[in-house]
Amino acid sequence: MSQRSFLSPGPCPLPSEFAEPLARAADRLGPFAGQMFWYASVSSTNDVAASLADRGAAEGAVVAANAQSAGRGRQGRSWASPPGAGLYVSTVLRPPRDAVRVLTIAAGVAVAEGIEAATGLDAALKWPNDVYVGERKLAGVLAEAADAMQYVVLGIGINVMPAAYPPDVAARATSLEEELGRSLDRGLLLAECLAALARRYDELRGGRTGGVLDAWRRRAAPTLGRRVRWEAAGSTIEGVAEDIDDTGALVVRTGGGTMMVAAGEVVWV
Ligand code: BTN
Repeated sequence: MSQRSFLSPGPCPLPSEFAEPLARAADRLGPFAGQMFWYASVSSTNDVAASLADRGAAEGAVVAANAQSAGRGRQGRSWASPPGAGLYVSTVLRPPRDAVRVLTIAAGVAVAEGIEAATGLDAALKWPNDVYVGERKLAGVLAEAADAMQYVVLGIGINVMPAAYPPDVAARATSLEEELGRSLDRGLLLAECLAALARRYDELRGGRTGGVLDAWRRRAAPTLGRRVRWEAAGSTIEGVAEDIDDTGALVVRTGGGTMMVAAGEVVWV
């Protein structure tokens, strides 16, 4: 990947809000127990993590920031990242090639499981890895692979506080504090998300994708059976989302037969 510039001059000591829960969860963090880089503010934690990976960072390196000035989401969108209002975290993974496709599915499952472990909130998944409560988005995952697939940076954004999101985001988004009606410990949230990711990633590395796919199906139950629309080869297609296949592609029943959506974005109709 190319040269990147960051706002922050360098990592800061990890605040105790994070250090203590991470230490308590250390034996469940697998590859994420080793290296944690904390920044007050960066452009994007995905960029910092990719830069570390380019310089040889080991699998499991974690980059987290209190704020991002240019946080980005899937499909070229931006990700609102006000200071202290969310969890903005990225990790370097070096998965076997055959695990890469299901990795994005596993990441969404892990984020939903981490949220549930930390807060009790039972969040749902929209393909491939958006975390929703009802019709409003709570968290998202951005997976970015290096050109030759030497590594994947997995970026996770979770809305924690109902902060000053831009109006277009505020209408479609929710936050943990809004859903729970109480304040929240971001350190515990990070520790539980990383522990869940460690567990699901270990399954993928071991070729055990069945548990990940079934966990996704359970969490997506409220969103399966819905009409979806997506763009393919310049046209718009609609159908009913039915399942995911073994590679994580969305199985959609259309008027013309069953289609698999392997990449891109589907919208609920
Ligand atoms: C989505 O569009 O749903 C994905 C959002 C991913 C946001 C996270 S925040 C941490 C990491 N850094 C970024 O710039 N993006 C991801």
